[in-house]
Amino acid sequence: MSLLDIRGLRLVYPNGHEALRNVSFSAEAGEIVAIIGRSGAGKSTLLRCINGLEKATEGSIVLDGKDITKMSQQQLAEERRYIGFVWQEYNLVDRLPALTNVLMGRLGYKNSLVGAVGYFDRRERELAVHNLERVNLLHRATQRADKLSGGEKQRVSIARAMTQQPKILLADEPVASLDPELSVQVLSDLARVAREDKVLTLINIHQVELARQFADRIIGLAQGVVVFDGKAEQLTEAIMDRVYRFDKMPVA
Ligand SMILES: Nc1ncnc2c1ncn2[C@@H]1O[C@H](COP(=O)(O)OP(=O)(O)OP(=O)(O)O)[C@@H](O)[C@H]1O
Ligand SMILES: [Mg+2]
Repeated sequence: MSLLDIRGLRLVYPNGHEALRNVSFSAEAGEIVAIIGRSGAGKSTLLRCINGLEKATEGSIVLDGKDITKMSQQQLAEERRYIGFVWQEYNLVDRLPALTNVLMGRLGYKNSLVGAVGYFDRRERELAVHNLERVNLLHRATQRADKLSGGEKQRVSIARAMTQQPKILLADEPVASLDPELSVQVLSDLARVAREDKVLTLINIHQVELARQFADRIIGLAQGVVVFDGKAEQLTEAIMDRVYRFDKMPVA
């Protein structure tokens, strides 16, 4: 059994828009998978279905043996502690130091109020320090998040996600706000720590060259349909045309 097994996933938004159609794929622990496709192809929708923010219309999403589409809100809240998320806009707490933001990765393991800052045990603090070090940011540990550069913020957010000790890491356009050079550095940090910890990582990304460089595997979405699933070297020009072609775009 695979760590992640998605079968026949369909997502229809309340306005009737079918954002995902019959999406099926499996992925294993430690795999780095890039998801590419035009704007509106359904990349973010797919990640939101996996962490339960969108409820699948049809199909199943089995993570580590448990079907996310069948979970209650309470079960989902518990399962989300094992699902790390990295956003384009970082989602850090501005006024808190970098290290405290990293510790926030442990919040999912706490009863809500007891999880307030100051209640992290020694093992958790060591884990947070370790993860900040792995993204080369230990020297910024006490710096307020809003005083960090964009690249530093995203590395804090990666360290936070790893401190969750997740089964799966979902990154939605993690480098879309960064310049090309920083994008390479941040993706290389992300891929390295995820591989070291054997965390399955799905990365939505617009830059195909970066997907080729950092992912073990690429999934191409077009209008909610998987039109490619394979290794970077199998992604030919003809397939790129299928993923990115301009015809057949839905009329708004
Ligand atoms: N809440 C919603 N209600 C209705 N339609 C939505 C909703 N959210 C997204 N959509 C539509 O679903 C489609 C897929 O959106 P999604 O955000 O998943 O695309 P994406 O591939 O992430 O695009 P981008 O590259 O621009 O981030 C789009 O046509 C979008 O307009
Ligand atoms: Mg998106």
